[in-house]
Amino acid sequence: MAKVSKRKRPARDVKVFKEQIKVESSVFDRFTLREIYSLMASGIIMTLDFPIKKGKESIVFRATPPPGYPADFLAVKVYMVETSDFVHMAKYIADDPRFRVRSNKRKLIHEWVKKEYRNLLLCEKMGVPVPHPHAFRGNVLVMDFIGEDGAPAKTLKERGPLDPQRECDFLMGEIRKMHKGGFVHADLSEYNILCGPGGRLVLIDLAQGVLKGHPHYSEWLHRDVANISKYYRSYGANADVSWLEGQS
Ligand SMILES: Nc1ncnc2c1ncn2[C@@H]1O[C@H](COP(=O)(O)OP(=O)(O)OP(=O)(O)O)[C@@H](O)[C@H]1O
Ligand SMILES: [Mg+2]
Repeated sequence: MAKVSKRKRPARDVKVFKEQIKVESSVFDRFTLREIYSLMASGIIMTLDFPIKKGKESIVFRATPPPGYPADFLAVKVYMVETSDFVHMAKYIADDPRFRVRSNKRKLIHEWVKKEYRNLLLCEKMGVPVPHPHAFRGNVLVMDFIGEDGAPAKTLKERGPLDPQRECDFLMGEIRKMHKGGFVHADLSEYNILCGPGGRLVLIDLAQGVLKGHPHYSEWLHRDVANISKYYRSYGANADVSWLEGQS
């Protein structure tokens, strides 16, 4: 999408942004504000509406794009530099040839965000249900908003299964599909699955995902499978994990 130059930006947008600075400056540092401002200037987001969830490392907001944008809402995930776990991030960036471990914290988070963006695109290409990524800047990622009538979707953990055996089979199929495509989510659990419109399960939080060939690939593949099997077993479903035998 074409960038709107600073001079041409409508006064109304600047006013909206200044209002938001007042609200968000207690949460965001000036670098984050700059990234959000850049997304506004690029015509991707118009307003940050409300925080959907605040975790230790990130805050996810619902956002509204400008009129004419091909989505009613977007989700904006902001990683917080101060509270991010760099050792954890470095562990999942190391040995992934697509990215570089950086000693500068801000640059490492940028690699992390880029990794999540690229992993979302990769999974989307494989036909795995994930939010479509729209853009990333610094520590900020913009993706499809998963929800209904403006209300954010619940996680699988919050909602619980509706049809345990069918959902378990479906998720095993998606893990297998990603594996066939040479990718492992590496943080899959009921906490990172959203229950979208019509009960559609959507995989989120893909920053940890790595490609086949990574030294921990097999270990993390088995862990994802174990998390999903265990969760659904407690609801009486049985996961078919026979395909996993001998997989490395
Ligand atoms: N695309 C989205 N649409 C709607 N809600 C979302 C979206 N992405 C994330 N969320 C909400 O934000 C929460 C946190 O997102 P996510 O799992 O990606 O971050 P996280 O890294 O786990 O955050 P934390 O720092 O809490 O561990 C999700 O549980 C979900 O409620
Ligand atoms: Mg998560």
